Amino acid sequence: MKQTTLRYRALRRVRSLPAETASRLLGMPAISRTLNKAYEKARASHRPRLPGLSSRDMDIVAGLEKNGVYITSLAALDLPGTDALWTSATGIANAYSVRAKAGEFAGQYTVQVGAEDMMRHPHIVHWPLNDRILDIVETYLGLPAACDTLNFFYTLADGRQVAARRWHRDVEDRRMVKVIVYLHDVDEEGGPLEVLHRAFPGCDQLDGANFPVLTQEMLEGRLGGTLERGDVTTCTGKAGTVIFADVASRYHRGRPAIARDRSALFYNFFSRSPLRPFFCERHVFSRAQLAELAAGQTARARDCMLWHANVPLLARIVPRARA
Ligand SMILES: [Fe+2]
Repeated sequence: MKQTTLRYRALRRVRSLPAETASRLLGMPAISRTLNKAYEKARASHRPRLPGLSSRDMDIVAGLEKNGVYITSLAALDLPGTDALWTSATGIANAYSVRAKAGEFAGQYTVQVGAEDMMRHPHIVHWPLNDRILDIVETYLGLPAACDTLNFFYTLADGRQVAARRWHRDVEDRRMVKVIVYLHDVDEEGGPLEVLHRAFPGCDQLDGANFPVLTQEMLEGRLGGTLERGDVTTCTGKAGTVIFADVASRYHRGRPAIARDRSALFYNFFSRSPLRPFFCERHVFSRAQLAELAAGQTARARDCMLWHANVPLLARIVPRARA
């Protein structure tokens, strides 16, 4: 069993090599300067075409700019399709909870709802693809948004500091927006998202192909002391809480759940030419399933979902890294 795990890890590492090499190349000063210039130019030329927002939606963008996070709720957002989303997603979450209690996921720290289940509930995928959410994301990014669908995570309350439960930054793009929906109440012991508001040496520099990934103890070591109130936003909330967070420019983690398992939806947004497309598409859907999900949607939603077809060829040929 242990050997299989090691072999799997080695294989995953080999598969990730092209993506990590490409990422290192992008980090070289001359290349990164050129890319940054092109990025700033694209943002400047898109500025006059940015959508107008209502003042309550502007608050979400302002929260992202100031704190990297904004907490609201399904009821406050009041988007079309919310009832159908809630019925399906909580139904799936309850089914996973029954399976977890029966011991089916023993040894795993997080389980993801698979593509077959999700394809039976396409409205879960479609829920944020409406003009209001896309306008919010576009305004924050300063560029048209891509939607890399979602991850429906069932997290087991084992208290382990592993994977996304360690402090990290996502690396797909310069700015990103995750829209997270809690499917039940999430308190401090139930695995809330946490966003860091403090800087430390190295937090802004890519270390190799990635930012350093840190346990709580390692982070406190780098900060030179324990975290104080105000250093972190701990996103606790009732069932139906919705969190907007920029997981690329802010260090964050899923605080390890200790009291109860957590079910939540994580919708992924970035620009249509993300900096590191080979780290994107860490969802459960095949390209054929994406095409099926995009069919019949508005032109804007289709362009959001099928962003990959328009990234430059050079970036497209780097095989994507495994999650
Ligand atoms: Fe993350």
